Amino acid sequence: MKIFNDLAEWQRFRDELTPDLSLGFVPTMGNLHRGHASLMKQSKQENDCTIVSIFINPTQFNQTEDFIHYPRTLDNDLDILTQCSVDFCVLPNDKQIYADGFKFQIHDASQPQRMEAHHRPGHFTGVLTIVMKLLTLVRPHRAYFGEKDYQQYQLIRDMVSAFFMNIDVKACPTIREASGLAYSSRNNRLSAEQRLRAESFAQTFHQSSMPINQLYDTLEKLGISIEYLEEHENRRFISVNIDNIRLIDNYVLLKNIEFKD
Ligand code: PAF
Repeated sequence: MKIFNDLAEWQRFRDELTPDLSLGFVPTMGNLHRGHASLMKQSKQENDCTIVSIFINPTQFNQTEDFIHYPRTLDNDLDILTQCSVDFCVLPNDKQIYADGFKFQIHDASQPQRMEAHHRPGHFTGVLTIVMKLLTLVRPHRAYFGEKDYQQYQLIRDMVSAFFMNIDVKACPTIREASGLAYSSRNNRLSAEQRLRAESFAQTFHQSSMPINQLYDTLEKLGISIEYLEEHENRRFISVNIDNIRLIDNYVLLKNIEFKD
């Protein structure tokens, strides 16, 4: 795997890649897990080469504490990239990425702001801005995002379309532990007791036949504090706090099947 710490070096290398070679891109903030590995696997299947970026983007953390405590696990991440046979890895730094001092930003101005956008003010401005910068630098043919962050995927897909970027934005299925809990870097912060609650949250949330009001009450009784629980476009979305650890999830609701005589 070829590692680029210097963006100018990467840009020179990118200019020299054969134009008919397809490039798949998986942007990450490191602390890689099986969810990320599945994105890399899909990219490997669909492209000639795969590139992963690792950059802990400070502008998308609406709470400084979260940024400070975000796990920095570069050596392990690089091992995972090697195991996944990733071709290239870019490791930009803050100075290179935000040489403009975050003067130029991509902002989703739609109103009302819902779910993550409502509960994490500024978060998506940070996400969209960094993803725009990374897509411009990497110039991939396809870019891969996990469905766990479905709202993020939708916004990136719509941004790419709004700015006429010729990139196929792919949503990949959420990867779950045996308990049903979605893989997330935040899971590492759960204590044994919190993990049990997180697992019962995942199991309860996935009972899609449970009406939303009943689901709300059942989760609260399990000691899970709900930030939002909403349904949009046939998908059920949730954000919960297990003490100070915030988890999100979503799934497609099965449509009611009408039987005819
Ligand atoms: O989903 C993530 O890990 C981040 O939001 C992303 C897309 C890498 C942007 O920093």
